[in-house]
Amino acid sequence: MNDTLDSFLDELQGRVYDDTRESMGEEVYRRWKNPVYLKKMEQPSVQAELSGSCGDSITIYLKIMDGRVIAANFETTGCGSSQVSGEVVCEYAIGKSVEEAGMLDGKDVLQVLGGLPEENTHCAYLAAETLREAARNYLQRV
Ligand code: FES
Repeated sequence: MNDTLDSFLDELQGRVYDDTRESMGEEVYRRWKNPVYLKKMEQPSVQAELSGSCGDSITIYLKIMDGRVIAANFETTGCGSSQVSGEVVCEYAIGKSVEEAGMLDGKDVLQVLGGLPEENTHCAYLAAETLREAARNYLQRV
């Protein structure tokens, strides 16, 4: 009985993964399945939280040393698209000067991801804007 249920659930999960890969593309699927930066950072140098028109929010945490981003993490209350967009902005920010990190645009995020469904493009813009806000917050302080 348990084996039957387990194999049914495995098959169902496999179908969900296959559907996600097919509809969202390989790049989005890979980042969604294997998040690297999705966690709260303790004692960041700066952080920013913004909410989108959908009501979801993204928080970006940056650790900065000598004007460069040396670590980045994020949390989101939003959808899978906001998760993969947060992954892209954190990956981009690490190693950049704060000024450079603060120039990322949502279009750049969409390009890295190979696009998102029309109804989710705002998630990429929200992630990029949150990174820019974190950079602004930092630069206003120094
Ligand atoms: Fe709200 Fe993606 S962040 S729908």
